[in-house]
Amino acid sequence: MPDFPADFRWGVSTSAYQIEGATDVDGRGPSIWDTFAREPGRIVDGSTGDEACDHHHRYAEDTALLAGLGVSAYRFSIAWPRVQPTGAGPANAAGLDFYDRLVDGLLDAGVDPVATLFHWDLPQPLEDAGGWLNRDTAARFAEYADLTAARLGDRVKLWITLNEPFIHMTLGYGLGTHAPGRMLLFDSFPVAHHQLLGHGLAVAALRARSTSEVAIANNYSPVRQVGDTDADRAAARAYDALHNRLFTDPLLGRGYPDAPGYDPTVVRDGDLDVVAAPIDVLGVNYYNPTGIRAPEEGSPLPFEMVPLDGYPRTAFDWPVAPDGLRELLGQLHDRYGDALPPIQVTESGCAYDDAPDADGRVHDPERIAYLDGHVRAVHDAIGAGVPVTGYFVWSLLDNWEWAEGFTKRFGLVHVDYPTQRRTPKSSYAWFRDLIRR
Ligand code: BGC
Repeated sequence: MPDFPADFRWGVSTSAYQIEGATDVDGRGPSIWDTFAREPGRIVDGSTGDEACDHHHRYAEDTALLAGLGVSAYRFSIAWPRVQPTGAGPANAAGLDFYDRLVDGLLDAGVDPVATLFHWDLPQPLEDAGGWLNRDTAARFAEYADLTAARLGDRVKLWITLNEPFIHMTLGYGLGTHAPGRMLLFDSFPVAHHQLLGHGLAVAALRARSTSEVAIANNYSPVRQVGDTDADRAAARAYDALHNRLFTDPLLGRGYPDAPGYDPTVVRDGDLDVVAAPIDVLGVNYYNPTGIRAPEEGSPLPFEMVPLDGYPRTAFDWPVAPDGLRELLGQLHDRYGDALPPIQVTESGCAYDDAPDADGRVHDPERIAYLDGHVRAVHDAIGAGVPVTGYFVWSLLDNWEWAEGFTKRFGLVHVDYPTQRRTPKSSYAWFRDLIRR
């Protein structure tokens, strides 16, 4: 592996609902995922995040795993319904106590705390009032950011406002395969704008309380156009605008692109200035590229997704394409030029069917190959002049993978859910050695 700058940030990521469990302690309120997971047929194995990895009780053991890995940073998320059980009103001190202990433990272990404020677990009462379709949710989010920064702002090193607002809009409100399970297709644009507005208002709230850096973590997928007709080109442009530009152009001061569903009547005077508040880091979550061609006649979508041939595949059936990460980083740099803040890859990882062997060891050579390829892609991009200053693996632990329940394992550490036993996989040792070198 070639050398990286000495101050390059190596980390791992998790999110609250996927690992914490303990959903009924310290006054936590219900989130949309508690509700959604209980609806029949929503989660493939019928599970919920009630226990997940029991991290709320086992955070000390998990912090020791981070220390053993030698990462310089740990990206976790804060559960809004622990801080504000109803999504409004004063902070629930007992809910914040947990993150206080976690952050102190990380600092003692020499690991920088990187905190995401929203990784999809909206307090249920806010959903009952319209969720992110309701403009008021943006103001509520800024209030929650303020309360959280008042308690942790002196120690969190990097704030991430939102995780993947594109995925939350598309799966949660467009297609209904994630909470809150709405199926509005392209009528979900208000969810995009209100999340971005909430982001901008939260940036201001965080700046007022904390001198730490502020970021957003967006999901990106470079588009591979399949076919070569004008209609294929138009389809690829439309998908690219939706997935890769809708949540980035306005952040970096360019206003909204002409993406499917874009509705200018939702955007009020002054909003775009709030959305474009300067950020210190752009978080990039990358898993795979997307094949796109023109839709069949009569399709409700202006594009059609097509599987990409010629790549190995993960247990999620996603193509393993490190060249896509290199391409994406170059594209962001070309597209935004000087307006692009330093990038940190805030999620990169893969699911495989990892299981202990007869000796109790967990070997995951496919994950090592996956990560090796993606880390090299980042190195190539840096060599070509793209400002990339960090790389976080998704995820530290096998965890509760949303609608896939416990059936997809993304961890560097295997979790045996019935016993909650943690077993570092061979990829854990590989990543530890890489960081040391
Ligand atoms: C999300 C994670 C999720 C991962 C794998 C990302 O879109 O931020 O929460 O577990 O992808 O699907």
